[in-house]
Amino acid sequence: MNKQTLAWPLKPLLLIAVIVASLMAAFMFAKFGSGNKITAQDFVDLQQGKLVYEGFRRAHAKGFCIGGVLQSNGNLAQYTSAYFFSRKNTPFTGRISIAGNNPTAPDLKAPVRSLALSLSSKNEVWRTAMNTPPVMAVRNPYDFYQQLLALAPDPTTNERDPSKIRDFFDEHPESKAFRTWASEYSPKNSFAEETYHSINAFYLINNKGNKQAVRWRVSPPIDALAAADLDTSNNDALQDEFFNRLKAGNVKFDLIFTFATAEDNVTDPTQAWPSSRREVIAGQLLITDATPQKNSICNEINFDPLVLPTGIEASQDKILGARSSAYAESYRRRAKEHLLRLSE
Ligand code: HEM
Repeated sequence: MNKQTLAWPLKPLLLIAVIVASLMAAFMFAKFGSGNKITAQDFVDLQQGKLVYEGFRRAHAKGFCIGGVLQSNGNLAQYTSAYFFSRKNTPFTGRISIAGNNPTAPDLKAPVRSLALSLSSKNEVWRTAMNTPPVMAVRNPYDFYQQLLALAPDPTTNERDPSKIRDFFDEHPESKAFRTWASEYSPKNSFAEETYHSINAFYLINNKGNKQAVRWRVSPPIDALAAADLDTSNNDALQDEFFNRLKAGNVKFDLIFTFATAEDNVTDPTQAWPSSRREVIAGQLLITDATPQKNSICNEINFDPLVLPTGIEASQDKILGARSSAYAESYRRRAKEHLLRLSE
């Protein structure tokens, strides 16, 4: 037997191994846009922590469901063919939450507050999940994973390590805009007084096929009522304030789109766009009701930011794909546990 015949049976195996490895690498690359292999499972394992709260979201676990109407004023219709932005009212289901894996965490300790929306027409669905910071600290999924690692509490002391956090931010100068925001941000006494940002950029596409890069935010109108001081010993202080506020009337927000120019970076969520950019108020969100999340409709929704209607497209921001994959993984875990719980 010569060398060639000895090697031959190995060749197809080697070829298959190379093809499988390249496909896996391409998959990881396409998913998270870097050579570093962080999977959706890795993200969700880290976010859920050691103590798993079964049936709950692995991030933003504490929250409640909201319902209401988006009253579009038609101002955005020339920029997008999305059904929801012609002049009309569309009902929505949404969720207000705080960041973190603990469904009973104290409202006032959470560094990030959030608002998610799901709008449906006969043929289209639009989902968006927004946070209080206008930018992220990092620009790719691998670095976000490192950020979560740096912020994770020490397993023995259950405390965060300030030196780890400092080192992380020192190594990530792109976090400057985020750090500036964090140092200036003062949390409001009500979810109704916060502004929630899409952070990642998207494109509006109109009927002629013209594309406009945008970010959006949901912001309280200037006449929004300021909340009274809160009972800081109440873990549900913000939830209670919101439910009480709704008894007195609907809660309103403006839905505002910021238009990028050719100078703005559309794929980098760490960069704020100049405040001089054109803004269009697309309409008002009227929140008419709120319900605890347990057994409520918003619990069954995955607010995947890539669920978009015709007329809105994702940008190439790598964070978006990572979010979509991680939300699906978190959804899969909690849906499985939830069904198990229902059938008990
Ligand atoms: C790579 C970056 C990110 C990862 C891995 C990630 C991961 C997750 C996961 C696993 C969930 C739970 C999903 C579920 O079970 O339904 C979640 C929820 C959420 N995330 Fe993110 N996230 C990321 C970035 C962001 C950004 C940039 C924003 C804001 C623009 C955001 C806003 C939210 C909100 C609002 C929710 C709660 C949605 C709801 O109420 O169901 N996330 N995230």
